[in-house]
Amino acid sequence: MENDILIDYAKKAMGNAYAPYSGFSVGTALLTVDGEIFTGCNIENSSFGATICAERCAVMKAVSEGCTSFSKIAIVSSGGNYTYPCGICRQFLSEFMEDGTVVLFDDVIGEIKEYSLDSLIPFAFNLNRD
Ligand code: THU
Repeated sequence: MENDILIDYAKKAMGNAYAPYSGFSVGTALLTVDGEIFTGCNIENSSFGATICAERCAVMKAVSEGCTSFSKIAIVSSGGNYTYPCGICRQFLSEFMEDGTVVLFDDVIGEIKEYSLDSLIPFAFNLNRD
């Protein structure tokens, strides 16, 4: 799947962000190993700690539809520059994304950066690891 296509999906999803408290909208597009795309946006809450990040939103949509293996996620934000997934989302993604790629987009310079998820969360927690 072309990064450009995933970024377009993420940008569209960002339009649905519910972020009245931070004013910071995030959109994601998650690619399953079967080629399906699930999008996500951040959903804030009056009780700030209840906020769901855009990455976990996409993962929850996918897993609840029976898709549990992902190869790539694209992340965009209203901040304009590269938006790296938070620590909780890195851990959350690592459950379902072995050898996965994280694609970030900087809207200001119009450039893409790619990382392996492993490089963003080396030694992710895993109950089954020996
Ligand atoms: N946010 C995400 O959606 N993903 C991240 O990886 C980091 C932060 C959201 C949460 C909150 O709604 C806003 O960005 C500001 O923290």
